[in-house]
Amino acid sequence: MDRIKILSGRSSWELKEKICENLGVEPTKVEVSRFADGEIRIQIKENIRGCDVFIVQSTHPPADNLMELLLLIDAALRASAKRITAVIPYFGYARQDRKDAPRVPISAKLVANLLQSAGAHRVLTCDLHSDQIQGFFDIPVDNLYAFPVFKEYLGNLPPESFTVVSPDVGGTNRARAFAKRLGNIPLALIDKRRPSPNMAEVMNIIGEVERRNLLIVDDLIDTGKTVANGARVLKEKGAGSIWVCATHGLFSANAKELLEEAPIEKVIITNTIPILPHKKFSKLEVLDISGLLAEAIKRIHEEVSISELFV
Ligand code: R5P
Repeated sequence: MDRIKILSGRSSWELKEKICENLGVEPTKVEVSRFADGEIRIQIKENIRGCDVFIVQSTHPPADNLMELLLLIDAALRASAKRITAVIPYFGYARQDRKDAPRVPISAKLVANLLQSAGAHRVLTCDLHSDQIQGFFDIPVDNLYAFPVFKEYLGNLPPESFTVVSPDVGGTNRARAFAKRLGNIPLALIDKRRPSPNMAEVMNIIGEVERRNLLIVDDLIDTGKTVANGARVLKEKGAGSIWVCATHGLFSANAKELLEEAPIEKVIITNTIPILPHKKFSKLEVLDISGLLAEAIKRIHEEVSISELFV
């Protein structure tokens, strides 16, 4: 591919290598180091003048990941890249996306402003926490769905014996779309109330779950409480086997133990966030999303439709 450059910071180093393998291009060399006080120092080690530059970097904690992305965009801009696309497989700071309480930030809007100020011309991301975040940008945003990656894996299961479950009301559209694409299979939802951040409390189940195999669909797993508590309540209501599909696996705190103990057969995620060895557990299946990202990058570069990937 002509004049395309793909590089990353440290949060998505392995994913970038895989994307490059898929595309048959060499990753662009970048040096990321630190000053003595811990400040990040970046240098792009190749000429990228006039090139179509894709910077792959998920922005999960620590905030250094976001900072590296901003510094890489700035470096690419000052090195005269023709176009800079921030490829953010996991878009962090997305959960505060509206002013729903006094004195709270709209973090997702702030991050959008930062990316644009740094010089990004486009954003490519995956399963954004909420669709309205696209509207926080005044540059094009392509929001991919990991569904085709899950579908390939789930192809071995008979989807007709499953019901898709949204673990909260906010995820209903995502779960509905998932159920539709699996062949219009039934949908149920958990009406969850959260008394404080990172505390999940389950209330009511809407829809038929008794003796059904269930596929809980969510964008991310952080502490694991949402899906673990949800699975427990679903079991009490007579559910059959329970599987979980979530695009982004953060696995904070004791998520691993919670999910191991929960009545869940499999937790299926993608590699938008690298999963450190100590966060892995026996039920976990990590699917590779690099092929989908590579295809989207190729389409952006060649200026052809991305939505066709999801029909
Ligand atoms: C909520 O709006 C999200 O879609 C996830 O359900 C939630 O953030 C997962 O968090 P945790 O794993 O900590 O319950």
